[in-house]
Amino acid sequence: MCGIVGYVGRDNAKNVIINGLKRLEYRGYDSAGLALIVNDEIKVFKRVGKIREFEIELNRLNIYSNIGIGHTRWATHGRPTLENAHPHLSCDGKIAVVHNGIVENYAPLKEELLSKGHTFTSQTDTEVIVHLIEEELKTSKGFFEAFLKTVNRLKGSFAICAITTAEPDKLFCARKDSPLVVGLGDDESFVASDVPAFLPYTNRAVFLEDGEVAVVDRKGALFYDFSRAPVKKEVMKIPWSLAQAEKGGYKHFMIKEIYEQPRAVADTISGNTAWFKGEIPLEGIEPSSFDRVQIVACGTSYHAGLIAKFFLENFAKIPAEVDYASEYRYRNPVVNDRTLVIAITQSGETADTLAAMRLAKSKGAKLLAVCNVIGSTATREADCVIYTYAGPEISVASTKAFTTQLTALYLFSLWLARERGALGTEEVEELYSHLLEIPSKIEAFLNRERQDETVKRIALEFYKSSDALYLGRHVNYPIALEGALKLKEISYIHAEGYPAGEMKHGPIALIDEKMPVIVVATKGSIYEKIVSNMEEVKARKGKVIALLNPGSPEAEKIADYKIEVPQVEEFLSPIVSVIPLQLFAYYIADFLGYDVDQPRNLAKSVTVE
Ligand code: F6R
Repeated sequence: MCGIVGYVGRDNAKNVIINGLKRLEYRGYDSAGLALIVNDEIKVFKRVGKIREFEIELNRLNIYSNIGIGHTRWATHGRPTLENAHPHLSCDGKIAVVHNGIVENYAPLKEELLSKGHTFTSQTDTEVIVHLIEEELKTSKGFFEAFLKTVNRLKGSFAICAITTAEPDKLFCARKDSPLVVGLGDDESFVASDVPAFLPYTNRAVFLEDGEVAVVDRKGALFYDFSRAPVKKEVMKIPWSLAQAEKGGYKHFMIKEIYEQPRAVADTISGNTAWFKGEIPLEGIEPSSFDRVQIVACGTSYHAGLIAKFFLENFAKIPAEVDYASEYRYRNPVVNDRTLVIAITQSGETADTLAAMRLAKSKGAKLLAVCNVIGSTATREADCVIYTYAGPEISVASTKAFTTQLTALYLFSLWLARERGALGTEEVEELYSHLLEIPSKIEAFLNRERQDETVKRIALEFYKSSDALYLGRHVNYPIALEGALKLKEISYIHAEGYPAGEMKHGPIALIDEKMPVIVVATKGSIYEKIVSNMEEVKARKGKVIALLNPGSPEAEKIADYKIEVPQVEEFLSPIVSVIPLQLFAYYIADFLGYDVDQPRNLAKSVTVE
């Protein structure tokens, strides 16, 4: 989720680009950079940290240019340092590139380019793009041909914008699986990863589709596919205000992030494919060097840990314990040098999780961090890091961070199972193929089957409730906990999550005709058991809201309300079944008129004990 801005026109590109980058800050940033063509030379400026400081620095410079590209980086490959900040330059300094996304085949491309004498100055995947253009230029008729040859060789996701001193009045851009939009103004044009970057200047936008490129100058833009066939594009008038545009037209970041999950989960898979497939090592971890796993985390990340225990024990056949980091750090856990401690943390800055990691390390454990924020403290202190590539999560209530953590942990458990011989290659491949289906299943739930509308209708009936009970079993028990946490934190309604089989040991006493009971009753090894638990609730006049798969007549018969979720492999079902619960909490909080993105008393990152 980096931010790209390109400008060509009658104004000073430096100012237009910096203003654009500021409006893309919500996409996350750790460093920023700018390249301008000045007197036939490309000048590059970069800074680590806040964009405002970068702006102050640039304001001091007396520099003028009508064309340039800028970038706010939210690191995906390589730490947030000056060298890794974009734009990146070719060896001869005549081409500059900014990029958003992940170049999956950057390692073989880099090797090839190194052998041809290119010098790299960063650890980013992006830098291969600019060197590849430079290399292709040697055998191409013109820059555009070299640009096209390059994009055809890239695997993964990318939105790219390039400038060259050879054609100093044009921006060259391409898109595959990463957003890019061209803004058409009056004697000026823009390229950006999102509309807010240029909305104060123009509301006329052309959205690039996957597999399209654009050559942009101040008079307009020409569009092609990757084989250079011209493409006719429609100019859209954007009706949004700036604030609406930042949220992609959604009312809150939380709902935007819920809808981003198909993309986010797909990014987690593609960003971690190389080590999963054995093309590169998973650095810092030796699969046979430990015989037990301890997971430490807080809040929603802790719930991901509870599900990871199922993955690790069932696939890799390795014993796993899960602790709240705040408990672990004070309970004198038994840890030795044959223990792997997995810290799950979106931010990588949660104080209790860091303390638990440090305690484990002091006792000899190896540390693996599953984290979303590159360069965060947890990633620096761990021996091994798996990134979730969810993109910045702005809403305090975690949604896409959770589903991407589960995706990363599923991949890790399968990898471990294969490396330790607990599962055969074919079994691992089969389980992996089920994971590949998840983004489209979520997409279907949200967008095609419009079950979000069903959830909204049910939320409207229950938003005045004072309590709610969430039940699940097996791999979906933690989803009951997560559903209850989501409701509590943004709607301030008291909610509890329980393993359904525990009901008769106490909580069943709470049930009466006013109590909504949300039951995760998707198909799987304990489906019949959960159906019996639903009967128990029904017998006490509780209102049953059931999450079920299509073709579940037993559960359907008992449920007062049903939400249909697509059926997926049992161990992957939490990634899908959590989504209606996120939506349920969201709509209830919104109906109650609360500040969904910033609930009372909560902070996005809990950096104090
Ligand atoms: C809940 C939520 C929190 C976090 C918890 C851990 O929606 O966001 O419970 O999950 O504070 O944060 P990280 O994952 O950053 O360590």
